Amino acid sequence: MKSLFIPLLICSVTSDTIRRYESEDISTDKQSSKRIGPQFESEEISPRRGYNTIVEPFTGKVRYEPKWSSLDTRPLPKWYDEAKVGIFIHWGVFSVPSFEFTAWFWEKWVTGTPDYVEFMRKNYPPGFTYADFAPQFTAEFYDPNQWADIFESSGAKYIVFVSKHHEGYTNWPSKNSFNWNSMDVGPKRDLLGDLATAIRNRTDMRFGVYHSLFEFYNPLYLEDKANNWSTTRFVVEKTMPELYDLVKTYKPEVIWSDGDWEAPDTYWKSKEFLAWLYNDSPVKESVVTNDRWGKGDVCKHGGYLTCHDGFNPGVVQQRKWENCMVLSRGSWGFNRKATLDTYLKLSDLTTLLAETVSCGGNLLMNVGPTHDGRILPIFEERLRQFGDWMKVNGEAIYGSKPWTHQNDTITPAVWYTSQKSGSETTVYAILLKWPDVDVLHLGAATPSPHTTISLLGYHGNNFKWAKSSTGMQVQIPAIPFNKMPCDAAWVLKLTALSS
Ligand SMILES: *[C@@H]1O[C@H](CO)[C@@H](O)[C@H](O)[C@H]1NC(C)=O
Ligand SMILES: *[C@@H]1O[C@H](CO)[C@@H](O)[C@H](O)[C@H]1NC(C)=O
Ligand SMILES: *[C@@H]1O[C@H](CO)[C@@H](O)[C@H](O)[C@H]1NC(C)=O
Repeated sequence: MKSLFIPLLICSVTSDTIRRYESEDISTDKQSSKRIGPQFESEEISPRRGYNTIVEPFTGKVRYEPKWSSLDTRPLPKWYDEAKVGIFIHWGVFSVPSFEFTAWFWEKWVTGTPDYVEFMRKNYPPGFTYADFAPQFTAEFYDPNQWADIFESSGAKYIVFVSKHHEGYTNWPSKNSFNWNSMDVGPKRDLLGDLATAIRNRTDMRFGVYHSLFEFYNPLYLEDKANNWSTTRFVVEKTMPELYDLVKTYKPEVIWSDGDWEAPDTYWKSKEFLAWLYNDSPVKESVVTNDRWGKGDVCKHGGYLTCHDGFNPGVVQQRKWENCMVLSRGSWGFNRKATLDTYLKLSDLTTLLAETVSCGGNLLMNVGPTHDGRILPIFEERLRQFGDWMKVNGEAIYGSKPWTHQNDTITPAVWYTSQKSGSETTVYAILLKWPDVDVLHLGAATPSPHTTISLLGYHGNNFKWAKSSTGMQVQIPAIPFNKMPCDAAWVLKLTALSS
């Protein structure tokens, strides 16, 4: 185990308003500040032997029990913390109307949200139902190999593909979703399986899935809800058989659960699922999960924490967490009304990356493909630009750990990461803005006589520096434009600091 490097720890979400995934409902659950569960520092996959964990008599292997006091002791497989960056992909029948808050289109329309009602009235005949969109989910230009290459070019190390969103349509041929899956209606294709194959065949990224536990208008779900969760037909006959099938068939290494918030985990049987996943599933050694497993569990239980969409606490967290965010503001699925200004710029992404990774998080960047299977060039361009940045600066990101300080104490918009090798710690200062002046003050860094400072990707001399009463002063040389290593966020590598 690493020494504790963190000035622990104000969980800024303790009394935050929690904004649920893709929902505009604001609930104000107070999140418990009690912390149980894996630290993001875990070095090994073999589980710690928690108080509530059973050790098998002959093999010595730990078996998890379907309770949080046991499940939460499972260390997070370490590939996940090292990866730092993933790609989220929202695709489904909602990509057909591709209108505004797309993945919630059905619900917005049914509940009478004016824009949505008006859009349907103007553009579709009377009697048109949501199910009638499915044949138009054609995916004729879907090329999973091309997608895999685009995702890989971003420098991301895992993907999280929507297997089923709240609409209930499955992007794989599920037998529990007769005529509401991608083989029976629409693409006539195993969208998910084909992407899993391409990712594994062409890249070294991990393949993961998003899965919504609930479905807006599934009659079995509505019946259980009307029975105040005292019946479980939906869970037993639909959502859980499908989730097990998904894991057995495609062996995803991320299960990004969602749609949990109306019912408790006892209704969902999600603790039973996780115990199976960790003990007996084909991905038990490497799978990671998030924290959306039932009402009240978010930001508390499960694998890593997502807390709320776009979670970016700005202070280091004791547990591993993820910031899931959109490349085009305002929607997860493709939104035909998105204008240029909704798309994040490279500098927006490098800012979010630096803030997130410095505080121990991963960044999960979302793209929304079109109904016919294209990833628009603006998404592709952003991902490739991000990947170019990662090629220059990746040593400050992949496998890094939060440092003693997350951001500088004097100069704003400077975020730190660190890498340890033996007894040496290298510190990276990510400058979100190029300094206006030729002397940069770093308050968090104390140099030693052996300290060196260089700019990643720059082939000129090391930078000169001087110790000061408040830390150190770094001399920023005049660098010719064509020698600058990147277009946004520049990384100084600091060696042999005394603290
Ligand atoms: C995997 O890649 C190899 C080499 O590029 C190719 O020959 C093969 O057809 C691919 N397999 C699938 C299932 O796409
Ligand atoms: C529903 O169940 C919960 C927990 O069992 C209980 O507290 C609540 O009063 C019930 N509500 C209704 C309307 O039956
Ligand atoms: C460092 O980050 C914290 C949290 O985001 C912020 O409150 C603080 O002002 C930042 N410090 C500086 C010097 O910008």
